Amino acid sequence: MELDIEKIRQDFLRELDKAASAADFEQLKVAYLGKKGRVTELFKDLKNVEAQAKKAAGQQINTLKEKVESLIAEGAEKSRQAEERRLVEEAEAYDFTRPAAYEQGSLHPITVVQREVEAVFASMGFTIEDYVEITDEYHCFEALNIPKHHPARDMQDTYFLDNGQVLKTHTSAAQNAIMRKYGAPLRAVFPGRCFRNEATDACHENTFFQMEGIMIDTDISISNLIYFMKTMLSEVFHQEVEVRLRPGFFPFVEPGFELDIKCLICGGDGCPTCKQSGWLELCPCGMIHTKVLEYGGIDPEKYTGFAFGLGLTRLAMMKYGIKDIRVLNSGNLKAMSQFTVR
Ligand code: DAH
Repeated sequence: MELDIEKIRQDFLRELDKAASAADFEQLKVAYLGKKGRVTELFKDLKNVEAQAKKAAGQQINTLKEKVESLIAEGAEKSRQAEERRLVEEAEAYDFTRPAAYEQGSLHPITVVQREVEAVFASMGFTIEDYVEITDEYHCFEALNIPKHHPARDMQDTYFLDNGQVLKTHTSAAQNAIMRKYGAPLRAVFPGRCFRNEATDACHENTFFQMEGIMIDTDISISNLIYFMKTMLSEVFHQEVEVRLRPGFFPFVEPGFELDIKCLICGGDGCPTCKQSGWLELCPCGMIHTKVLEYGGIDPEKYTGFAFGLGLTRLAMMKYGIKDIRVLNSGNLKAMSQFTVR
């Protein structure tokens, strides 16, 4: 029998010419050198060759096999190197400074306002403190001079946990812990999430944000309170604001006030935003009650201080003209993107 060594050689060279990828070379290897490969089959057919031609044919097949092996190895290596070069070129051509193709997130309006207010108070020497969201009745009420059964508790309908703890209804709940931690003199602001059992509507939410501030030192007076509030609000609204105090009742301050700012929309003439009054109620505040100082381990004979409870949620609504408070907790990115600040 005559073997088709030459034809197989020709076929192989033709196919080799077309091979480019690592997969192509792998396929060639299987097709010619694999268990059922054409070269392998040649060896099997050798037994049918006449005895005198066997040796020469065997040598020819061996030569072919070596050639096929080395050409495939060479081609595969070249293809591997080309692929490597391509990847390097691709990486080098990649512009890492190119803006991302996906949509970038943005800060929540309350976060923006919170950071602004924090920065203003930090520049006035206040530290920024953190406090828990779950606390107890003592910190939320008793330590703030709101004893059990006092009617002032009715102002804050509270979520109680099964173990008797409460979700803090106001950031004032942190006052006692912070006074005890640092003692006097003390300047601190503490933002936080607050919870009340409210029926929600455009102006009421069961979850909202406040920022409490306290300043305690010798000779702190209402003038200091007015100065700090006016400075901070002017910074936040990027314009000089006019403030006024009205009496307000809060058991933890004496005297207590409601601080108003002159309406930024109408400048005091009266408009729908300020309900024609010319003023916007912004921030309850007052001089810290002597009992609250005492509970906090601070001597009221020696120190006085002021406290304020700024509604961060309300402030954000005013700043961005948000009409419905529920938008803020909705997680509705489409609605929030109107106020995008990066
Ligand atoms: N904690 C009060 C509330 O949420 C607000 C408040 C009033 C805070 C007077 C104060 C303050 O620090 O002096 O209703």
